Amino acid sequence: MRIPCSFISCFSTSSKEQYNNEYPEEENDGSFRLFTYNQLKLATRNFHSSDKVGEGGFGSVYKGKLGDGSFVAVKVLAVEVESMRGEREFVSELATLANMKHQNLVSLRGCCVEGAHRYLVYDYMENNSLHSTFLGSEEKRMRFKWETRKDISIGVAKGLVFLHEEIKPHIVHRDIKAKNILLDHNFTPKVSDFGLAKLLRDEASYISTRVAGTLGYLAPEYANSGQVSRKSDVYSFGVLLLQIISGLAVVDAYQDIERFIVEKAWAAYEAKDLLKLVDPMLNMNFPEEEAIKFLKVGLLCVQETAKLRPRMTEVVEKLTNNNVDNMRDVHISKPGFVADLRNIRIKGHNSSQESSSTGASFASSIWSTVNLAR
Ligand SMILES: Nc1ncnc2c1ncn2[C@@H]1O[C@H](COP(=O)(O)OP(=O)(O)OP(=O)(O)O)[C@@H](O)[C@H]1O
Ligand SMILES: [Mg+2]
Repeated sequence: MRIPCSFISCFSTSSKEQYNNEYPEEENDGSFRLFTYNQLKLATRNFHSSDKVGEGGFGSVYKGKLGDGSFVAVKVLAVEVESMRGEREFVSELATLANMKHQNLVSLRGCCVEGAHRYLVYDYMENNSLHSTFLGSEEKRMRFKWETRKDISIGVAKGLVFLHEEIKPHIVHRDIKAKNILLDHNFTPKVSDFGLAKLLRDEASYISTRVAGTLGYLAPEYANSGQVSRKSDVYSFGVLLLQIISGLAVVDAYQDIERFIVEKAWAAYEAKDLLKLVDPMLNMNFPEEEAIKFLKVGLLCVQETAKLRPRMTEVVEKLTNNNVDNMRDVHISKPGFVADLRNIRIKGHNSSQESSSTGASFASSIWSTVNLAR
């Protein structure tokens, strides 16, 4: 994963004109580009509100059309520049990420640095995110048949195998959730925002300010002690898989018991009635044994003890293996979950701060106002 030398030298020495000439607008050979602010302004019709396709914790996302006719998503980073890497390092890290091509990862086309402002340019995904298309109330959400759910689950798992096991050094995504699974025109799932966790956030601010919206996908060891590993991604994937099969929200704020999807799934597993979890919108049109197998794989991924969770290659193997018998007697241990933000420890803070009442009330105030993860 090397960045071309010409790229670095052109960026570090030059005026915008210079790298503009080297990376003209019409060029679209799939390599990473530096865009000028004017190019992005033109592409998004001056960041017109009707071209806005979403808003996340990092800032707004706009649909844009480049000179070559292709569509892109422009993410306007609202992150403070001080908390980001230096300009040159930022660009070179992005170029490295852009080199990581896989059919289940969203392609990063380039970026733009304009004074204090930074923009990321991705391939545009016509069917938005799994969160907006697939989840939500029955009237709003799309009817995904079993095969589509299966393909999406396996596609996401393959994207994670690539990040975890095929590239060196490996990447832990840290924010696997329905909002970060985008769908292209064929509903091929594409994992988005990989590599950004490390690039844009320091650990302390990540845990303190961004965890709230993601509560429910977060591995207990990550939330409790900031321990990040591939197995914490496996946990989040397990939650997502349970969602894809059940259509349920990750956290149901209106319930007193079995609030979390992992609790519901565990209760159904213990009652030997996993089928009751399968999305009623499938109208019983699904292969029962296979659905049970998928739910069991989800439960294997969310086990409390991280080392018992499978690696992503094993997950793909289990999901694609046509022999459902090999999962029939599998042993699954209790899932872990973060029931209360008050338990969250903020890495980088000392222990007295961690247990201070301010910390607790801060956490519970997020808990009460949080836009709960679906
Ligand atoms: N490449 C893309 N193509 C089409 N739409 C996109 C693309 N990238 C992002 N979006 C839309 O913009 C929204 C905001 O994306 P962003 O990654 O900034 O935040 P998020 O993942 O939704 O949430 P959070 O900030 O909690 O992580 C997405 O939910 C999606 O609807
Ligand atoms: Mg995102």
